[in-house]
Amino acid sequence: MEKKIVVIKGDGIGPEIVTEAMKVLKRVAERFGHTFRFVEVDAGGCAIDKYGECLPQASLEQCLAADSVLLGAVGGPKWEKVDKNNRPEKALLRIRSAMGLYANLRPAKIFPQLAHSSPLKAELVEKGIDFVIVRELIGGIYFGAHETTQRDGEAYATDLMAYSEHEIERIGRTAFETARKRGRRVVSVDKSNVLDCSRLWKEVMHRLSAEYPDVEYSDMLVDNCAMQIVRDPSQFDVVVTENMFGDILSDEASMITGSIGMIPSSSLGEGTNGMYEPIHGSAPDIAGKDLANPIGTILSGAMMLKYSFGMEEESRAIEEAVQKVLDGGYRTGDIMSEGCIRVGCREMGDRIAANIG
Ligand code: IPM
Ligand code: MG
Repeated sequence: MEKKIVVIKGDGIGPEIVTEAMKVLKRVAERFGHTFRFVEVDAGGCAIDKYGECLPQASLEQCLAADSVLLGAVGGPKWEKVDKNNRPEKALLRIRSAMGLYANLRPAKIFPQLAHSSPLKAELVEKGIDFVIVRELIGGIYFGAHETTQRDGEAYATDLMAYSEHEIERIGRTAFETARKRGRRVVSVDKSNVLDCSRLWKEVMHRLSAEYPDVEYSDMLVDNCAMQIVRDPSQFDVVVTENMFGDILSDEASMITGSIGMIPSSSLGEGTNGMYEPIHGSAPDIAGKDLANPIGTILSGAMMLKYSFGMEEESRAIEEAVQKVLDGGYRTGDIMSEGCIRVGCREMGDRIAANIG
C-alpha cells in the first residue's frame, strides 16, 4: 500500500520524538512492503517564527489532502505573548476542526513492565488499568466565543461552552462502538448538576444507550470521575466526555500508567484520515537533549496504521517491538527504575525499530 503521511514535528521535543516515530514507520514499510510518503509541514511556534503565522494555509491544505497526519507537539513559553488567535495551540485546534476530527481516543493502559512507575499503590495497579478516554475534540468551550472586555472598570473574560445534540450523539456512537470492541462498558462523564451542556449531554447519552443494549451504560459527574480514576481505575472500560473534561482527565489517566510519555492518541472524524499524536506537550525544558520518551509518538504511529490504514498486523508489530524493548530493560529517564538501562530518545527509537519483524 502507498500512503501519504503529513508530518508536523512542531516545537520543543516534537522534532526528536517524531523523528523516532518516522524511523519506526519506515522500518515497518520496509518489512511489510508498503510505501509511506512523508511530507513535512510547519505548524505551531516554529511556523510563527518562520512565517509569522501558526498555521500557514499550505500546511493546512497538506493536512486535508493527507491519508493521515502525525504530530509531535506544539507550543512553549517562547510564544506565550503571541496574539491569542495566532498561538501555536491554535494551529492544532484549527487542524482538528478543519479535518472534522471529533473523536479523540486516549488509551490509559499500564505496561506490566512499568507497574513500578505508577504513583498508585501496587494492589490497585495489580487490579489492572486498561481503559480508553473518548474525548469530544471539536466542540465545547474550546470552540465557543472567547472574549476579554471591560466591565465596571475592570477586565472581564468569558468563554462559551456550547454543544448541539448531533455533536453529542456522534461522539456517543464512537464510545459505544469502541466499547463493543472492548469490555462493553461505557461511563459518560459530565457536570449535569451544574451545566446545561452537561444536562443535554447526559440526556443524549441515555437515549443512545437504548440502542446498545449489549453495552453496560452509566454516568458519572466529572469531579467524582477524577477521584475514581485514582481510587480504582480498574472499574473503567470506555469513558466518554466533552472536550475540556477529556483534556484534564486524560492527563490524570496517563499519569497512573507510569508516564504521560507513553500514551498515544488518535483523532478521527467520519473518514479514515486522522491525526495521531502523543498526549503530552512540547516539554521545552528537555528539548534537544535526547532525553524525551518517543514511545507515545511511536505508539501513535501504531494507532495510525490500525485505524487509518487498516494495517492490524503492522500495528501489532510496533506494539510488540515496544514490549520487547521494555522487556530488555531499556528505559528513558521518565520511566527509569532501579536495575534498568537508561537510554536516550534516539536509542529508544533505534531499539524499537530494530525489533520490528
Ligand atoms: C492536548 C493538549 C491540547 C488540548 C493543547 C495543546 C491545545 O493539551 O492535546 O491534550 O488542550 O487539546
Ligand atoms: Mg491536554
